[in-house]
Amino acid sequence: MADTWEGLRQECLACQGCALAQTRTNVVFGDGATDAKILLVGEGPGQHEDEQGVPFVGKAGMLLDDMLEIIGLDRTKVYIANIVKCRPPGNRDPLNVEQDACIGFLRRQTALLRPKILICLGRIAAKAIIDENFRITSQHGQWFTRGGVQMTAIYHPAALLRDVNKRPETFEDLKSIQAKVRELFGPDGP
Ligand code: URA
Repeated sequence: MADTWEGLRQECLACQGCALAQTRTNVVFGDGATDAKILLVGEGPGQHEDEQGVPFVGKAGMLLDDMLEIIGLDRTKVYIANIVKCRPPGNRDPLNVEQDACIGFLRRQTALLRPKILICLGRIAAKAIIDENFRITSQHGQWFTRGGVQMTAIYHPAALLRDVNKRPETFEDLKSIQAKVRELFGPDGP
């Protein structure tokens, strides 16, 4: 049977597909508009996201909200999800086995959403979605087309908190995203 958002959410909340189910407080399914044309994909929940069940609500999330605002977007105009829906202990990178167990949920979210633009937040998402050999340092801001969806990757907001020297490049990438949004949706936005 075809997915519904609520059916998929309930299935995800009950998931025991990998060991992260044992240590999570909450599954972090996703946030934003379920009819958004723009999908943002991060890596996986951190401590605050695990506590609240909502993606990007910690310091990196506040920076992400600021980055969206710069280009005239907010959480009512995008949908935000992660590669893995449960927190990897100690905020380590999600293991391949965890990503493999979880990626089906993101695929099904993407099928429901049918975004026109997909923005990978950081290396882990870019490798899982755009190209397994993706190099974030040299390929951030480039555009790719996969299955009719225009995709790009930018530095993860947490990386921008750690290294402010990456911010000017990211500002250029944000302007490129804004131009793509205008190209696809016109001056009034998505
Ligand atoms: N980092 C991520 O990649 N995702 C979140 O939801 C929060 C922090």
